[in-house]
This record gives sequence, structure tokens and C-alpha cells, in this order.
Amino acid sequence: MIAHGIRTLGVLGAGQMGTGIALVSALRAKVPVLLHDRSQDQVIKGLAFVDKLLEKDVSKGRISSEEAKEARDRITGVDGVHAMRDVDMVVEAVSENLSLKQKIFQQFATELSPEAILASNTSSISITKIAASTIPECVSAASDAGKKTAGRVVGLHFFNPVPVMKLVELISALQTTSDTLDRARSFATACGKEVTTSKDVPGFVSNALLMPFINEAIMCLEQGTATRDDIDTTMKLGMNHPMGPLQLADFIGLDTCLAIQETLYAGTRDSKYRPSVLLERMVDAGWYGKKSGKGFYDYN
Ligand code: 3HC
Repeated sequence: MIAHGIRTLGVLGAGQMGTGIALVSALRAKVPVLLHDRSQDQVIKGLAFVDKLLEKDVSKGRISSEEAKEARDRITGVDGVHAMRDVDMVVEAVSENLSLKQKIFQQFATELSPEAILASNTSSISITKIAASTIPECVSAASDAGKKTAGRVVGLHFFNPVPVMKLVELISALQTTSDTLDRARSFATACGKEVTTSKDVPGFVSNALLMPFINEAIMCLEQGTATRDDIDTTMKLGMNHPMGPLQLADFIGLDTCLAIQETLYAGTRDSKYRPSVLLERMVDAGWYGKKSGKGFYDYN
């Protein structure tokens, strides 16, 4: 396995995904992590969650208190991308919004080392598009082994909850170099994850399969085919899923589910991917699932 060569990692976005990525990187890959979010409160909340998870690991005897302290000490909250200028890799884990991600990647391209790997944890947005908007003038340049070009942009898709889920999906943009792919794969392995690879198609493999399943479950509810509990129980007991699709949608975030489904619909122009109206209305209402306290279930 090729050495990943990541001496310091940047993580942008301290929500449930970014915080989880910071934790596995510090605990498993033992890499110092600089964590940034535009909301300082979110960083504080994220670090408090890391503390809680590390304490639980210690109380269950999975790690020693020294290991927990070392891991925690490796994670530092920072006040901007400028503070990440010396990282060897950055993972962006902000919400599923193309223009936001493009802005962030343009900032990475100007403020970070020209050799840093630029990874996105996007669930469905084209890595090729993100890469092209990052360094447009270099898209077709084969020179420089991808160092100063879009060849260092890659998709590194973790799953929620990151500390528990064993998979990372690796997505190659058209521009991604093999060196970038190998190092990103090696880093994910060091984080204790199994890696699968997917072409850069809408939703990649994971969400091209998962999100239509969730969307169909919401349509079943919308059409009155069955109750919420019967839909979830059918899949839990009949198919051995750990949670039903409606509970899983709440857990992922209904805003994220809708954003992914819209990417599938727009990216394929296939009507089979049209988002459920009920999903759209719930997002309109601000019922995002577990993180907002209400979704298909009530969390208050
Ligand atoms: N963060 C960290 N750890 C968590 C957690 C969280 N948010 N939620 C639960 N866990 C941990 C628990 O602490 C517990 O750890 P322990 O073994 O040390 O005690 C372990 O997970 C099991 O939790 P519970 O016993 O409370 O509950 P369950 O047995 O029901 O397991 C679950 C919880 C692991 C979340 C399980 O229900 C599950 O696997 N659900 C499906 C998750 C899934 O499909 N994730 C993928 C979502 S799709 C995605 O992320 C892609 C994106 O692009 C949309």
C-alpha cells in the first residue's frame, strides 16, 4: 500500500460528518487535524461530541485514557482556511450545495499548498465539476503530475455515523491523478475504513441506490400505502436493515436527502428520480429530521 503522506489534515465543516472525519483521522490514522466551520459554535459542539465519543470508548475499554487524550489533542479548531495553509490534505464536509463547494474549492486552490490533496465528502455532486471550477485553466494540463492542477481533487465519501460505519467510497473525477487516488485510498484505510471506488456519476454507487429507496419509502407514506411504522418495520424485520428508510432519512437529514435526490434527478434527467412532494414539503417546513428535532419522527 502506498504511503498516504498526510502529516496534517484540514477538515472544513464541523457538522456530523466533518466531526466524525476529524475523529477517525485523529484516533485511527493518528494525524493532527485542523477543524474549521464558519460557525464557531458548531466547532465547539463538534469537539464536545468528540469528547463524548472518546469517553465512551475509554469506558468500554476500547482505548486507554492516554490514547483518548492523545487523539483529542490532535484536533484543533481553527478560524479559517488560511490557518490550513500547510496541510497535506483537506476534506470538505459542508452542505450539499454546488456553488458553496465551488467557492470553498476556489479558496483551497488559492490559500493551501499547491501540493495538498483537495477532497470532498459530497454525497452526490460531481467531483469533476468541483475540480473544474477549482483550477479551470489547468483542467487539460497533463504537466506537473497533477500537483498544481485539478488532478489533486478527489471524492472521499464517508458514511454516517463516521466512527461506526466501515465504508469510504472513493470517487475519481475525470481529472484526478492516480497518485491522488492512491494516497486518498491509503489515508481512508489508515482511518480504519474499507474502500470501494465509484465512477463520478450522480450519487456514485451508494446514493444512486440508497436515495431512490428512501424516496420511494416517502412516496409510500405520501400515498397512504402504509403507516410510517409499518414501512420502517417492513424493511427492518423483512430485510434485516438496522433502521427503516424513514428513520434513516431523519438520521441523514431530510435536507440532505432532498439535495441528493435533486442531484440524481438533474444529473440523469430521468423522471424516475423525481423527489417526493412530501419530502419537499417537510424540508420547506424546516423538518430536517434528527438534527432539527422533527422529521418523520419526533426527537424532542
Ligand atoms: N455517532 C457516533 N456513534 C454513534 C452514533 C453517532 N451519531 N449513533 C450511534 N453510534 C454508536 C453508538 O454509540 C453505539 O456504539 P457502541 O457500540 O460503542 O455502544 C453503536 O453506534 C450502536 O448504537 P446503538 O446501540 O445506540 O444503536 P443501533 O444498534 O441501532 O446502531 C446505528 C445505530 C449504527 C446508527 C445503526 O442503526 C445503523 O447502522 N443504521 C444505519 C446507518 C446507515 O445506513 N448509515 C449510512 C447513512 S447514508 C450516508 O451516510 C451517506 C450520505 O451520503 C447520505
